[in-house]
This record gives sequence, C-alpha cells and structure tokens, in this order.
Amino acid sequence: MLIFNKKSDLSAFLSPLSHQNKSIGFVPTMGALHEGHLSLLKKSLTENDITVMSIFVNPTQFNNADDLEKYPRTFEEDLKKMSKISDSIIVYAPSVSDIYEGNTVSESFEYDGLEHQMEGQHRPGHFDGVGTIVKRLFEIIKPTTAYFGEKDFQQLQIVKKLVERYAIPVQIIGCPIFREANGLAMSSRNERLSENARKKAALIFEILNQAKSYFASKSITETIQFVQNEFKKHPEFELEYFEIADETTLLSAESKEIEKKYRGFIAVFIEKIRLIDNISLN
Ligand code: PAJ
Repeated sequence: MLIFNKKSDLSAFLSPLSHQNKSIGFVPTMGALHEGHLSLLKKSLTENDITVMSIFVNPTQFNNADDLEKYPRTFEEDLKKMSKISDSIIVYAPSVSDIYEGNTVSESFEYDGLEHQMEGQHRPGHFDGVGTIVKRLFEIIKPTTAYFGEKDFQQLQIVKKLVERYAIPVQIIGCPIFREANGLAMSSRNERLSENARKKAALIFEILNQAKSYFASKSITETIQFVQNEFKKHPEFELEYFEIADETTLLSAESKEIEKKYRGFIAVFIEKIRLIDNISLN
C-alpha cells in the first residue's frame, strides 16, 4: 500500500499512469472506515486498474466546531482495514495545509437549488465545503470513476451536478447503503454512540420501512405525520426533519405524481449525535 501526504507527490505518481490510459477509481472519505466505505473501495478495486482512497477530515464542510473536533480519527486502524482487502490501494491522507494552502475557506457553489434542501438548510455552508474538497480532489487525482454512497443521497446528487457544471471528466457511481445487522445505516458517527443508543437507533430504519409501507396507500402529508408521531413516542430521539422529496430535484413533494420517484430523508439526534438516513419509497 502506498501512502501519500502531498498532492504534488500523488500527482507525480498518478500522471504517467493516466497517460498509459490506466483507469483510476477514486473513493473519497473522511476516514474512521466501516463496511460502508469498504464496499465502495471493493467496487472500485474490481472495476479499475488503480484505486485511490482519500482520508481527510475536511474542516470546511463542518458547520459545527464541536462536531469537527469530535469527528473520529482512526488512521492506523483504517490502514489495517484497507490492507486486509488489498495491498495495492493508493492512500491519499493530506494535511489541511496541503489541501487549503493556508486559506481554509470554501468556494461558493450553486447546484440548481439542490443545495437549499434538507442538509443544505440544516447545515449552512456544508455543501460549499463538500464541493470545494471534492473538486480539489478530482483536480489532483483526475479519476476515471469516483464512488459515492447513497447514505448521503443529497451529496451524491450534488456531486453529479458539480461534475456536470464544471465539465469534469469523471463518471460518478452511486452505491447502496450498508447497514449494521439491526438496520442502522453505517456511519463513522455511530462510533460516538453508547452501546445502548446504537441498539435503539435501529428504530430509525424500522420507522423508515414502516413509512414506506404507509406511503403505498396514504398521502405524503399523512406519511410525514406518521413518522413525526412515531418519534414522539420515543423521547430519546429528537427528530430534526423527515421529508419526502423527488429523487432528482430533491424538492419537497406535496402530492404524489405517478411517474416520479420519491425518497424519504431523515435527520435525527440521539445522545446529541446527528444521524441521517434515507429510503426509496416507490
Ligand atoms: P464520509 O462520511 O467518510 O463518507 C465517504 C463515502 O462513504 C461517501 O460517499 C458516503 O456516502 C459513503 N458512505 C458512508 N456511509 C455509508 C454506508 N453506510 N453505506 C454506503 N456508503 C456509505 O461523505 C464524506 O465522507 C465526505 O463528505 C467526502 C465526500 C469525503 C468529502 O469530504
């Protein structure tokens, strides 16, 4: 496994390979790797000549200083997990200064309104930070294909829009959500939950599944009401939002239209840790 900390070294290594027309698969992460991250890594390894995984806790996408400070950093364990899968992974683990060169601020992005919905509303500036880092990583690595999880469905749609807008020559692949045995969507933030909360958090996916059944015969408003009522029965959870949106525009839906694909999106706190998840509804 080759580990690079500097973009100049990584570019110098990758550039001749690109010129030989080798395909470069890229999996950007913030580390604290779990099976969800590793599923993207495995997919890239099977589909490309070279696979690069980045590990970088990107400060500009955190709208909460405490969340940034407490974000789990487990670099040595991450390397062990990667080496169990393959010893030919290229790791890029830059410092903040290698990426931001002394100016740790986001650029502003406009993604046809995708950025104003859900996570964009509740985490101001978040998608500017994501756009800034993803665009820089694409410029450094120049991947043929990049892999993103549907766990962050809005991020996936935004990255697709970013690539289209800036005509970046990379194919974006969305990958299914990996879950713990109890249904909880895997997340690096799950590490911060107590054992008890981690068990209780199974309720999120249970309610999403019930909402999906409910949605088959009920209206959007009734389905939202149902989810809100279910969470009221469990005061250890604080529901930030549950929204039903059109999968492509991410605009909140008010009434069902036959040809549209809808998804339920949720953000919920337990033990002050913010968890997100989503489910396809039709
Ligand atoms: P991070 O949260 O580390 O996630 C890295 C990638 O793994 C993202 O594409 C995310 O959607 C995917 N992922 C996370 N949990 C998953 C799960 N349970 N199943 C499937 N895929 C999952 O997302 C980020 O980092 C950052 O915003 C980043 C894109 C790296 C930019 O800093």
